[in-house]
Amino acid sequence: MESTSPPGVMPTARQNPFDPPEELRRRQRLGPIHRMTYADGDQGWLVTGFAAARATLTDPRFSVRPDRMRSPTAQPATAPAPPGFFLRTDPPEHDHYRRLLTGHFTVRRMKLLEPEIEAIVNDHLNAMELAGGPADLLKTFALPFPSQVIGELLGVPYSDRQGFQRNAATLLNADLTPEPRQAAVRELMAYLRDLLRHKRSRPEEDVLSGLAAHEGLAADEKAGLALLLLIAGHETTANLLALGTFALLANPAQLAEVRDQEEGAPAVVEELLRYLTIIPHVVRVAREDTELHGCPIKAGESVTVALSAANRDADHFTDPDALDLTRSTAGHLAFGHGLHRCLGQRLARAEIRIALPALLRRFPALRLTVAPEEVPLRSAMTVYGVRELPVTW
Ligand code: HEM
Repeated sequence: MESTSPPGVMPTARQNPFDPPEELRRRQRLGPIHRMTYADGDQGWLVTGFAAARATLTDPRFSVRPDRMRSPTAQPATAPAPPGFFLRTDPPEHDHYRRLLTGHFTVRRMKLLEPEIEAIVNDHLNAMELAGGPADLLKTFALPFPSQVIGELLGVPYSDRQGFQRNAATLLNADLTPEPRQAAVRELMAYLRDLLRHKRSRPEEDVLSGLAAHEGLAADEKAGLALLLLIAGHETTANLLALGTFALLANPAQLAEVRDQEEGAPAVVEELLRYLTIIPHVVRVAREDTELHGCPIKAGESVTVALSAANRDADHFTDPDALDLTRSTAGHLAFGHGLHRCLGQRLARAEIRIALPALLRRFPALRLTVAPEEVPLRSAMTVYGVRELPVTW
C-alpha cells in the first residue's frame, strides 16, 4: 500500500500492519526533527528520533493543553480538557491530580490485583471455548477482559460496559468531527458524575469510592479523573493484546518463543510494546520561542512526537525493525516519557503478561481465519490496533 499523504502532513497509511507508515520512516532516515503541515495548513513540527522525542517530552517549555494548540487538527477531542483530566493539564494542576491516584497503581496494589486478573481472563477464555470458534478475538476476549479489570478497579459496573465502550471508541476516533467526540465526553462525564454521587452514599472498596469521598475536589474534577482512567484503562490494553496476538500469529518463530518460555513473558510484553507502539504519536505545543536539537520552534507551534518512529530508531535499538522477543528494550517510549508517562503501565503489563500466555495455552491451535493483509486496521484512531481479529482454534 502506498502512502497517500501529501508531503508534510502526518502520514498514517501503513505498508504493513506492524510497522510505522513508510513515509514516517523515510523522514526518520533524513533526521530527528522535521517541518510538518497540519491538515488545516498550520505549520508545526514532527519528531521522529528517539533522543529528540525524549528531549521534547521532558522539556517544561512544552505544554499538553489543547486550548493552547493553535491547529484544531492537533487538538484532541477533549478540548478544552474536562477538569481533572490530567493527561491534558500542565503542572502544577497535573501533579496535584496525578498524586491523588498514584497509590492505586503501585507494585503492591498490582500484585494484589493479579489473582483477580487471572480469574477474569479465565472466565472470558471459558466463555470463548464454550461458544466455539471461529470468533473475533477483539470482541470476545481482548476488549472485554481489560474493560472488566478497569471496571473492577474503579468500581464501574460491568453491566454498563456497552455505554462506556461505545463512547470511548467515539472519543478516540480521529476520523470523526469534534461534535460527536465531544458529545461522547459529555455523556461519559454525566454518567460518571451520577456514579460518583451514588458511591458517596454507598462507598465500596474501589477507586471511585475513594474519589467520591474526597472533600477537596469539585464534582466535575472527580468525574474528569474517573473519565481519564476509564478511557485510558481499556482501549489501550485491548489493542495491544489483539495486535500483539496478530503479530505473533503472523510470526510463527516468535510465537513458538512465547510458548516455550513462559518465564520470559515480561520481556515479551516489553518487546510487543516497543515493536507495536499502539499510541503512535502524542502532541505538545511550545509555550514560548524555544529550540529543539538546533531547530527554532516558535511559541504556539505544535510538535507531534512520533513514538512509533522513535521506538524504531536504529541509533537506539539494534535491528529495530525485527520483532525479537529476547532483546533488551530498556527505555522504550511506548508508555511515553517524562511527566505524563503512563500511570497505568504496571496494570497494562500485568494484564498482558497474564492474558497472552493464558490465551495461547488454552488454544494451542489458535490461527487467523483470513490472510494477514485482510485483517482490518484502525489507522485513524488515537490508539492503533485492529478493528477485528478473525480467529479459530
Ligand atoms: C498516559 C500508553 C495502558 C492510564 C499514557 C501515555 C502513553 C500511554 C503513551 C502518555 C501520553 C502523553 O504523553 O501524551 C499506554 C499503553 C498502554 C496503556 C501503550 C497499554 C498497552 C494504560 C492503562 C491505564 C492507563 C491500563 C489505566 C488506568 C494512563 C493515564 C495516563 C496515561 C492516567 C496519563 C498520565 C499523565 O498525564 O500523567 N499512556 N497506556 N494507561 N495512561 Fe497509559
